[in-house]
Amino acid sequence: MSAKYSVSKAIITGGAQGLGAVIGERLASEGISVSLLDMNETGAKETAEKLTASTGTPVYGFKCDVTDRAQLREAWQAAADAMGGLDTYIGNAGITRDKMFHKLTDDDWDLVIKVNLTGVFEGLRASAPWLRTEGAGRVVLISSVVAKMGNLGQMNYIAAKAGVVGLVRSGATELARFGTTVNGIRPGFIETAMTKAMPEAAQAKMAENPLGRAGQPEDIAGAVAYLCSDDAAFVTGHIVDVNGGLDM
Ligand SMILES: NC(=O)c1ccc[n+]([C@@H]2O[C@H](COP(=O)([O-])OP(=O)(O)OC[C@H]3O[C@@H](n4cnc5c(N)ncnc54)[C@H](O)[C@@H]3O)[C@@H](O)[C@H]2O)c1
Repeated sequence: MSAKYSVSKAIITGGAQGLGAVIGERLASEGISVSLLDMNETGAKETAEKLTASTGTPVYGFKCDVTDRAQLREAWQAAADAMGGLDTYIGNAGITRDKMFHKLTDDDWDLVIKVNLTGVFEGLRASAPWLRTEGAGRVVLISSVVAKMGNLGQMNYIAAKAGVVGLVRSGATELARFGTTVNGIRPGFIETAMTKAMPEAAQAKMAENPLGRAGQPEDIAGAVAYLCSDDAAFVTGHIVDVNGGLDM
């Protein structure tokens, strides 16, 4: 028996490439209309075009820098207009600016918090008019395994990703009355452009988990699809670890 989805209109931030694009592919292949929002407008539109062709479901691409509140709200409205509403928000856009904490510049700290924490919150806030009126919806926010286990040289990133866990729990509490679930995912190391930028020694460690392989974007997309499905209707405020057993 295949999974059922009561939701049908999803915004994914950071959807031009990496996890966001593969999550978009998976949701569209389940018949959910998708809007990919990304600061890389060309990438968002090209990926949307490809996914529309490969899945047969409408996928749209819009320019949206999540640190620009006005642009984010405009992009949200444009996406909802294109899809005929909005019932699902996947907060995925994220960046790294890794350094040992005493070497972090003001910009390294400010930008990572702005994109990875404030940007995720702004997406939730922009979704509120729809999530509070369209009936049971779905929110999935992307945190990170390092929010749980810590890591060298990522204090800015880890602070933001731990903050995302707070958004999940408070969001789940506030949106429960509308039947909307809010969950998070803590990916382990997944092969994308973000991890390819890591030092080689760090990349070599990516497969050092009990399952003995690096994670793939499809591993994360599968968990998102589950959390968006009717099978997860009674799951809220939960953080799913998808990390090959790296941290249990
Ligand atoms: N890859 C991993 O191992 C891993 C592990 C844990 C968590 N994550 C998280 O998963 C998410 C996706 O990561 P990824 O590996 O696909 O990275 P990626 O670098 O491949 O893709 C990130 C996307 O976000 C977009 N983006 C960056 N800043 C933005 C902004 N200000 N506004 C809008 N879009 C913006 C980029 O243009 C890009 O398309 C991130 O939040 C990341 O922190 C990744």
